[in-house]
This record gives sequence, structure tokens and C-alpha cells, in this order.
Amino acid sequence: QSTQSLKGKTVLITAGPTYEALDPVRFIGNHSSGKMGYSLAEEAANRGAQVILISGPSAEKTNNQNIQLHRVVSAKEMFDKVFENYENADIAIASAAVADYAPKEIAQEKIKKNDDSLTIELVKNPDILKTMGERKTKQFLVGFALETQNEEENAKGKLKKKNLNMIVLNSLRDEGAGFKGGTNKIKIITESSLTEFSLKSKTEVAKDILNFVEEQILK
Ligand code: C5P
Repeated sequence: QSTQSLKGKTVLITAGPTYEALDPVRFIGNHSSGKMGYSLAEEAANRGAQVILISGPSAEKTNNQNIQLHRVVSAKEMFDKVFENYENADIAIASAAVADYAPKEIAQEKIKKNDDSLTIELVKNPDILKTMGERKTKQFLVGFALETQNEEENAKGKLKKKNLNMIVLNSLRDEGAGFKGGTNKIKIITESSLTEFSLKSKTEVAKDILNFVEEQILK
């Protein structure tokens, strides 16, 4: 593809984990590094896209002129930032590992250790990607699925349920795949296709994903 193959396109990307506060010093989070999302952002920007990167807490950095970075902490903050920007997006890629649940209440003061057990009530977070699917107008919508069982079946289910154009499946069972390291091994699923890729660096995986998106858009 030409290096400016995404010129004129706005690409919205979510990346990283979310942190759901328990009290002023503690949170519920996950091991997502944000690497996949940042790699996608760099690659899309290199192809000439205007990138809006909405990132949870991640050690990744960018100084690409074509990337507008918004840092958020919680799923709710990510939700709000996404929908401030969603309307303008031509392509939206949800690679963030959003916490499914958040503590019902955030304690004002640090929770003390008194009793032998502590119960925390969790409530469901908004599903950002599902809402993007519901509000879809022109967007080409890409989701991720990280599954530990019945991977393909579950991913296909999500494709439908969330009204996606494609879903990227990474399996925790594959060595070197998933959300922590620098490599990934993916399958791309659309309504009518399943394509398997070999294990590669997330930079290379980002190229595969965007090549696929471009092919689908031009079809
Ligand atoms: O349903 P599940 O969480 O496995 O779906 C994963 C996909 O949905 C990922 O693309 C993730 O970024 C997105 N997601 C989201 N908001 C949530 C949960 C997941 O955008 N609250």
C-alpha cells in the first residue's frame, strides 16, 4: 500500500487498561500494556490518518504529529472521551482492555484493614464498543477479543452482538500472544471470512490489521 493510504481518514483507537478506583490509593486493573493500540496508532498515523488515541494508564508514549493523545483512567472516562470524538471517525478500533466492572462506591478515605474479610460490590461498566456499534453511522468498526475458550465461536458472537465490521481474535493459549508482551498472534474474523496470521511483533500485527481494514473499506 502507498504510505499515504489513510490520508483524509480519521481513525479513533482505544488502548491500554482501565483502572477502577476503590479508594484514593487502590484500583482494580488488568495487565494490558497498551502496546497493540499504540502500534496501531503509529501505523495509521504513518499512513497519513488523523489519529485520535484514547488511552488508559499505559507506559507507552508517542510524539507522532498525527496522533492526538487523550489519557484517561477509568472506563467511564474512556466512554466519555470516545463519544466526544466518535462522530468524526471513519475507522474506530477498540483495542483497550476495558474493565467489565467497577466498584459501586469509591471510598473517600483509604480503606482500613479491620475485619478478616472485605466485600466489595462491583457494578457493570458501560460497554464502549457495543455503544459504538449502536451509534454507528459511517464508521468501520473493529473490535478485539481475548478468549480462553471457544475462541472463534465467541468472537463471531461478539462481531454480531456489537455490530462490528471485523474482530481481531488473540488467544491466551498461544505462546507470545495476548496483551502483555511485544508480540501477538491473531485471527481476523468478518461476517464472511476467517484469516489466520503467524506470530509477529505488534508493529507488524498493526500493519496486517490496517491492511485488512483498507481492503475491506475499498471493497
Ligand atoms: O466483550 P468483550 O469485553 O470481550 O469485548 C472485547 C472488545 O470490546 C474489545 O474490543 C474491547 O476494547 C471492547 N470493550 C469496550 N468496552 C467494554 C468492554 C469491552 O469497548 N466495557
